[in-house]
Amino acid sequence: MRRLTVDPAAPDPAAIAEAALALRDGLLVAFPTETVYGLGAHGLDARAVERIYEAKGRPAYNPVILHVADVRAARMLAAHWPEAAERLATRYWPGPLTLVLRRADIVPAIATAGLDAVGIRVPAHPVALALLAAAQIPVAAPSANRSTELSPTSAEHVARALGDRVDVLLDGGETTLGIESTVLDLTGERPVLLRPGLLTREELELVVGPIDLPAQQAEGDAPRRAPGQLERHYAPRAELAVVPSAELLESVGRATGPLVGVLPRTVHVGPRDGLVVIRMPASPRLYAHRLYAALHELDEQGCRRVLVEAVPAEATWEGVRDRLARASHR
Ligand code: TXA
Ligand code: MG
Repeated sequence: MRRLTVDPAAPDPAAIAEAALALRDGLLVAFPTETVYGLGAHGLDARAVERIYEAKGRPAYNPVILHVADVRAARMLAAHWPEAAERLATRYWPGPLTLVLRRADIVPAIATAGLDAVGIRVPAHPVALALLAAAQIPVAAPSANRSTELSPTSAEHVARALGDRVDVLLDGGETTLGIESTVLDLTGERPVLLRPGLLTREELELVVGPIDLPAQQAEGDAPRRAPGQLERHYAPRAELAVVPSAELLESVGRATGPLVGVLPRTVHVGPRDGLVVIRMPASPRLYAHRLYAALHELDEQGCRRVLVEAVPAEATWEGVRDRLARASHR
């Protein structure tokens, strides 16, 4: 793997050009976005996209997001560009929002897992935008982790998870937001929230009106409405439990095992042998920014069990709540 370290605010054009060329050649390039690191490949080259699935061990029914530099490039990937897409794109792109639209014929079937719809996003990170502008192609990029494992928020995480499965790693330091984009399906009569994120359902509703939640989906390997939403997902190696604030100290007291991780938010948990305590921030933005890094750290330290203090039931926390629920699902 070739690792190129770049200034996240003003990436070196030579490094960007090299990574862009690698993408055009069908190679795998991991790069930072404002949410998490992506594992990128030429989005219109079926063989290149197939290499993403191989590198991640990703099931074939889970489609990938196509990243582009601007709305004009996004439109070319969609068979139909509804009014709602125009309004959302104008308001929230570049940014942590993925729109699912009817796919144009140029999009290879493997990128959409055979679905008639394609996920599209314009990321807000300067490195991602520079790379997309230089490559001049749509870049297919799921999060740069092995399938079902934790998403990477630093180049270190990518290197550890994927190593030489990646051809080029653009190291732009830590990502700013820290959890994946909000995914909104615009192919039906009403928009459907496929994956919550830091951009909340309420914020999107201000622009497009009422948004539905997905109906229960079928099990098995058949293509699904929200195919990536495997219940167990974004999970650390440790077994994770979300505990109400009032019960946290008691759960910590009862916890056994060689090494237990604790992520308190409001409760004070004192140091003790066998405990690794990482104090989490009080705001949803900072919490999201810290979450995967904290879980990666507990995994690294060898924690077999992690107790997480529950987060508020408010809308601004919906993205974080979703990731904690998935990480704790067995
Ligand atoms: O923030 C992000 O979205 C990051 C960065 C790298 O952009 N990417 C990311 O990709 O999280 P991934 O593959 O880990 O998650 C993409 C999600 C999955 O839940 C997938 O099922 C959904 O988007 N998705 C993509 N294309 C879709 C489609 N055509 N129909 C329905 N869901 C789709
Ligand atoms: Mg992912």
